[in-house]
Amino acid sequence: MEFTCIRNYTAAPGVGAVQINRPAALNALNLQTMTEIVEAFAACDADSDIRCILLHGNEKAFAAGADVKEMSGAGAVEMLERDQFARWERIRQTKKPVIAAVSGFALGGGCELAMLCDMIVASETAQFGQPEINIGVMPGAGGTQRLTRAVGKALAMELVLTGRMLSAREALRAGLVNRVVPVETYLYEAAALAREVASKAPVAARLAKESVLKSFGTSLESGLEFERKNFYMLFATDDQKEGMSAFVEKRKPKWTGK
Ligand code: CAA
Repeated sequence: MEFTCIRNYTAAPGVGAVQINRPAALNALNLQTMTEIVEAFAACDADSDIRCILLHGNEKAFAAGADVKEMSGAGAVEMLERDQFARWERIRQTKKPVIAAVSGFALGGGCELAMLCDMIVASETAQFGQPEINIGVMPGAGGTQRLTRAVGKALAMELVLTGRMLSAREALRAGLVNRVVPVETYLYEAAALAREVASKAPVAARLAKESVLKSFGTSLESGLEFERKNFYMLFATDDQKEGMSAFVEKRKPKWTGK
């Protein structure tokens, strides 16, 4: 069986790079590819040498959506039983920070996959969109919810109802991506950001990620409580002692992830 997702754990220190690799289909996300991405992410989560995950496609496509050819003949019950979007949900449960490097198309399930990542570095050629309306359906892997939270109702409604694509610059203005960089260097820039995140105290990074994500599904009061408990919990780690001692002693901290 040919792999449609390539793992490279030596791209940068502490970074697990995962590449979606179906170039002939513009990286359309079929069941096999999504399964392999989920497996790669789980392996990264379990590997203490990896502290940040970098997900990317190629220059032309991050991913042009869920695989339309795989879905086109399916009935509702078959779709329900297949439960393909459970794989996107598994990605959401990744403990370590995830950075998406997006160039070219990030459409439908591809845009939804990028939005599941914690930060997005876009190349100048990146195009984001939820074009499902053009093929008689609607987003099914979180697009109506995450896009709306990221860019607001007006723009989300427009993108979902017209299928229009958003350029990288528009995506930056709308708050969907962290930065836009030249296509020649987008992977390097994304890897540099991943390396920076990987250099931080791992338990603090994990709990900080959890706390930010918590804000999307809870009241302010519960979110603040969740944050405070995570903050206090970090005082049970060696890295908190090391980080604060290093600050006082004016030296660089050495993280152990304990
Ligand atoms: N599924 C399956 N195959 C796809 C695909 C997809 N989502 N997107 C592209 N491909 C395939 C094409 O069928 C084509 O294959 P063949 O050479 O075998 O014909 C190949 O990739 C290249 O695509 P195009 O020739 O169409 O390339 P283009 O440059 O002319 O157009 C595009 C690029 C505008 C992205 C166009 O391919 C397109 O509109 N793709 C579909 C986008 C889409 O509708 N995505 C949403 C899918 S549904 C979804 O994702 C649901 C969800 O919420 C999870």
